[in-house]
Amino acid sequence: MKKILVIYFSQTGQAKQVLDATLKPFIENSEYKVDYNLIKPKNTFPYPWTYMQFFDAFPETVRGTPCEIEPLQIETPIDYDLVVIAYQPWFLSICVPINSFLQSEQAKLLLENKPVITIINCRNMWLGAQEKMKKQLLNLKANLVGNITFVDRSANLVSLVTVFAYLLSGIKENFMGIFPKYGVTEKDLINAPKFGVCIQSHLENNQLAKLQVELNKIGALDIRGNLLLMEGRGRALFPLYANYISKKGTQGSEERKTRVRIFGIVLPTAILLLSPIITILSRLAPILAKKKFDKEIAYYSQNSLKLN
Ligand SMILES: Cc1cc2nc3c(=O)[nH]c(=O)nc-3n(C[C@H](O)[C@H](O)[C@H](O)COP(=O)(O)O)c2cc1C
Repeated sequence: MKKILVIYFSQTGQAKQVLDATLKPFIENSEYKVDYNLIKPKNTFPYPWTYMQFFDAFPETVRGTPCEIEPLQIETPIDYDLVVIAYQPWFLSICVPINSFLQSEQAKLLLENKPVITIINCRNMWLGAQEKMKKQLLNLKANLVGNITFVDRSANLVSLVTVFAYLLSGIKENFMGIFPKYGVTEKDLINAPKFGVCIQSHLENNQLAKLQVELNKIGALDIRGNLLLMEGRGRALFPLYANYISKKGTQGSEERKTRVRIFGIVLPTAILLLSPIITILSRLAPILAKKKFDKEIAYYSQNSLKLN
């Protein structure tokens, strides 16, 4: 019997939905044992978030500061054949609960020399978070062999509105009577078992090194030019602003509230203003700088880390 360890975090249940759908071929096969482990922070993150709670989580998320988590209930380290990590990007970084697990002693024991597959569910920006994930897995001596993403397929500005309605007031559908449902579509969930089938055949034939190429052929990654350019801006600026807020105090402190509040206004405004400009630039980029653009997309479609 082959054993699969699943590590995940979810606030609203979407990560669990995409996991169940993707891993269906394993769950329904008696040759496999699939162990789900939800990461539980000792102080739970709020859902829905208040405006201040949401933006106050920014500095620690970007800086990778771990929170305390409950240890996993795995008695002796079991020798897993495959590890699946399902997570959400927060502020273009790994969400705090999963990042905290990756920095734990248990992660070292469970992940060393293991093939790992990441499953991301998010609004639409995951490239930066996955770069940080590659780095964490390298530190743990784990072997990233596959990445599958589930995103909201609406236009960037539409999902900017619907994600805030979802995260700050828990409204998923029909926001203000006009906006589409936020999140992963039914169609994507129905299609997800094909990824599981692909993983299974590569695992059984000892061909995990070729897995990502095959996953890409069936639509595991959807890298959009405008989002790639936009994320690039955010990834350069976020650490600077995260440090600037942190200088004033730790999470929840009164002293840093003004800086957090300013960030909470600047971020959505910047996305709103930059989105149309960047969309135009992204249409031009494949014409003006085709080689560079293609190279970047190829880089984010594979699992090794660029060493700068
Ligand atoms: C604090 C926070 C920051 C987020 N930042 C991003 C982001 O940078 N990129 C993105 O695509 N989605 C972002 N999201 C949306 C989530 O990735 C995801 O869609 C949502 O939390 C649902 O996941 P769940 O149902 O499994 O909890 C963020 C969500 C939260 C709570």
